[in-house]
Amino acid sequence: MKIRGVESSCDETAVAVVEDGRRILSDAIASQVETHALYGGVVPEIASRKHVEAIAALTEKALADAGCARGDIDAVAATYAPGLIGAVLVGLSFAKAAALGLGIPLIPVHHIRGHIAANYLAFPELEPPFLALAISGGNTLLIDVAGYTGMTILGGTRDDAAGECFDKAARVLDLPYPGGKPIDDLAQQSRGGVYHLPHAQVDGAPLDMSFSGLKTAVVNLAHHARQTGQALDRAALARDFSQAVSDALVPRAMEAARLAGRKTIVAAGGVAANSIIRADLERACREAGCRLYLPPLRLCGDNGAMIAAQGYYEYLAGHTAGMDLNACATKDLSEESGA
Ligand code: KG4
Repeated sequence: MKIRGVESSCDETAVAVVEDGRRILSDAIASQVETHALYGGVVPEIASRKHVEAIAALTEKALADAGCARGDIDAVAATYAPGLIGAVLVGLSFAKAAALGLGIPLIPVHHIRGHIAANYLAFPELEPPFLALAISGGNTLLIDVAGYTGMTILGGTRDDAAGECFDKAARVLDLPYPGGKPIDDLAQQSRGGVYHLPHAQVDGAPLDMSFSGLKTAVVNLAHHARQTGQALDRAALARDFSQAVSDALVPRAMEAARLAGRKTIVAAGGVAANSIIRADLERACREAGCRLYLPPLRLCGDNGAMIAAQGYYEYLAGHTAGMDLNACATKDLSEESGA
């Protein structure tokens, strides 16, 4: 079964064709990063307009790269939540028009479910159940993935997402947007241990996290150094900050896996590209005797293939939708989508 996947929830327009949820036939992406970098973050109205400009040509490219005609596609899957609402609406409306025009099923896909499914594309043997650590620009979640479409949230951030925290910390370190990769690169130049940053706990919710205090601490350190003319060891701060994020995520992921009785851990989302988090997860999984799946870097960020991959399993579960399907800015990923 060939599914066209459409993703437009933030600043990447992406269209892909995937066969049987596992084999990428094409994966076309138009990134808007350069445009938003001028503003130091995503400007929602610009994002929507850029999606409109890109999506038709990108769809033609994805079909051509896959060697498919429109009629070869069996269903169209699109991100319907969560994301910037105007941006999500562009991809979803385009997918609806395709489904209606071609007379094929429309499959709604939760963006974070898509990030998790990116791993199915890289690892043919991977099947649920497993514990997923989903860490992206807008979400930070610990999810018990009992089946391809049956998921329970075990914990998550109470405030900022890990990726947002990377982006804000990068900004005060004068690094370009998006800041995750530049901080990661800068952190490699130091062994850290210079700055003492807060490690927040949420009372009564050991699997929940809070990143806003950490973000504020980095902002305050940078501002204080600037105002007093003191030297700031930027590489050490990048290192200590990255380590603090990893220290919040990795032990909780291990504990969530233990509580859920899972021996397999799967990382997902843009922040899963972080080298310190990847190394810490590898070490922790080795010590706990858990199997770890880390998505290849090209599949960590937003892409259409992950939406098509999850779309396949949503389709098998009967989760298709009609033309009245609406986009949602926020949505609990444990809710099943469609009919
Ligand atoms: O998953 P993604 O592409 O988009 C969302 O669905 O949100 O994630 C984007 C986030 C950004 O915050 C970016 O700074 C972060 O992923 N990121 C990283 C790294 N590469 C990208 N964060 C930490 N280390 C990295 N190497």
